[in-house]
Amino acid sequence: MTNRLRILCWTRFPGPALDRLAVNHDVRVADDVLALMAGDPDYCAGVTVLAPVGSPRVGVELLDAFPSARLVASFGLGTDHIDLAAAASRDIVVTNTPGVVEGPTAELTMGLMIGLLRRLREGDALIRAGGWPAPGLESMLGTGLDNGRLGIIGLGGVGRQVARLASEFGMEVVYTQRRRRDPATERELNVTYLAGDELLATSDVVSIHCPLTPETHHLIDAAALARMRPSAFLINASRGPVVDETALVAALRSGTIAGAALDVYEFEPRVSAELLSLDNVFLSPHLGSATLATRTAMTDVLVRQIEAHADGRSPDHTIA
Ligand code: 8YV
Repeated sequence: MTNRLRILCWTRFPGPALDRLAVNHDVRVADDVLALMAGDPDYCAGVTVLAPVGSPRVGVELLDAFPSARLVASFGLGTDHIDLAAAASRDIVVTNTPGVVEGPTAELTMGLMIGLLRRLREGDALIRAGGWPAPGLESMLGTGLDNGRLGIIGLGGVGRQVARLASEFGMEVVYTQRRRRDPATERELNVTYLAGDELLATSDVVSIHCPLTPETHHLIDAAALARMRPSAFLINASRGPVVDETALVAALRSGTIAGAALDVYEFEPRVSAELLSLDNVFLSPHLGSATLATRTAMTDVLVRQIEAHADGRSPDHTIA
């Protein structure tokens, strides 16, 4: 039997699936969740499903305002904006939307890599300014992917897809990860396991694909950057705080590494002025899943989690 749920969405999720949900449930799209909490605590007290994306964070304070919540159905792959321990202690189920985000995020990662190494941002800026590379064949030379070594930090859903794509571009792929993958996976993906320090010291491109956890916060700090080659590039399309942005700016300025391409930022949506002032960076505003098809598919997965919960079934993508 389907229970009628009171569902609060952090924003309007793209695609028709939300309308399907509204046939059997009370679905509300909040313009401002914090304002709703302050202005209508009685409504919030009756909400049974939270559907967050990004901010505001689902922490203890927010959960206190939603004492009837039994499910947090999050839009996206990462769950670092949810206090999983606080949810578990309240018997709240948490779900995410894997299976549809990984491919597009890997595609964007390759775009960042190519854009940075082949200097596409500088080329675009030069043309817009009415310019053209200096005569001769040695200006605006970039770095090719072919035969380069790509070091992947975190061979999860996105990391695997990046490994596949990078192999197609002729890269040798190495990876590091807390728990080494099984030999069959390594063979299938044609990847070699290395300890973190060796990966940093020997890769031409280092790409970060681990989740943000207390263990991975500032995983790439000044010491890690110092291990990289002066000719190496850093790519981050995972979560900003995995990289110490102040240390990254210093490393880019001093030539400790050659360049960085970022889709995510330590203090998102704020991007440090120092980063913006550097030429050897290529930046995009958290676009990993930003296609209509992907975001529509994410909504479908999210709605399926809520429908399972409403029918008394266990949702497929339960985190905690
Ligand atoms: C964004 C993402 O969450 O899935 C993730 O973890 O980072 C992205 O998909 C989503 O695009 C909303 O910002």
